[in-house]
Amino acid sequence: MEKIEAPSLNQFITELTSTNSTQSSTTTTTTATATTIEENNSLNNEKKQILIQVAGLFGSIVAQLHNSCIIHGDLTTSNVLIETKNNDEKKNDFSLIMIDFGIGCVSTMIEDKAVDLYVMSRAIASTHAALENLLVDAFFVQYKKEAQNAKEIVARYEEVTLRGRKKGKQKKEGRGNCNIDEVFLIFFFFFQKKIGFEKPSAIQQRAIIPITKGRDVIAQAQSGT
Ligand SMILES: Nc1ncnc2c1ncn2[C@@H]1O[C@H](COP(=O)(O)OP(=O)(O)OP(=O)(O)O)[C@@H](O)[C@H]1O
Ligand SMILES: [Mg+2]
Repeated sequence: MEKIEAPSLNQFITELTSTNSTQSSTTTTTTATATTIEENNSLNNEKKQILIQVAGLFGSIVAQLHNSCIIHGDLTTSNVLIETKNNDEKKNDFSLIMIDFGIGCVSTMIEDKAVDLYVMSRAIASTHAALENLLVDAFFVQYKKEAQNAKEIVARYEEVTLRGRKKGKQKKEGRGNCNIDEVFLIFFFFFQKKIGFEKPSAIQQRAIIPITKGRDVIAQAQSGT
């Protein structure tokens, strides 16, 4: 296997839109950070065109995968490499290479393709929040042109997105109704009085504080203890 010497699309977008690489003299002293809404607003037209171009290429490559019934499963901008070549007109020619098919599968189902697109849009929203609309819209312009059954797939993607939003809302409401102090007291009472444990175990000691602070916690204890 050959290592491709190319940055990920994530790195490419972050560098292109970082404050250090903007041409405004007021931002030259600021260190490079993640993109912000202000940066998006101040993006010059040339950069916007590049972003539209590369997001379109991303849409195109995913359309080609879906036309071959390949579901990538983890369509993030970190799983795309981008090669840049200058063509004769000194314009940028980009080519994208998909990597990380570890959780991919082969499927002809509209639902699977729609979920693949949903993962892509959520990933862009979380990694490139300020550029979400620009990138996702440009992705879909190209995807719709090139994907077979694009209309059906995109309609299903919209359904999947609605399902995702409803689920998120339910989750938040559920969390709001849960009185964590009450749960904690019941938990403690149960352990101390009913079963006779006096002291929380190591995993409980580590987990109790973040749980009471309302944080989501995944704790992995040593098995067999
Ligand atoms: N520059 C590259 N050239 C060729 N193949 C690569 C390159 N980078 C990664 N890969 C391949 O893609 C696979 C996944 O790499 P990747 O960097 O996406 O790791 P990861 O653990 O999935 O990280 P992440 O969670 O950020 O996606 C690697 O196992 C490797 O085979
Ligand atoms: Mg990866």
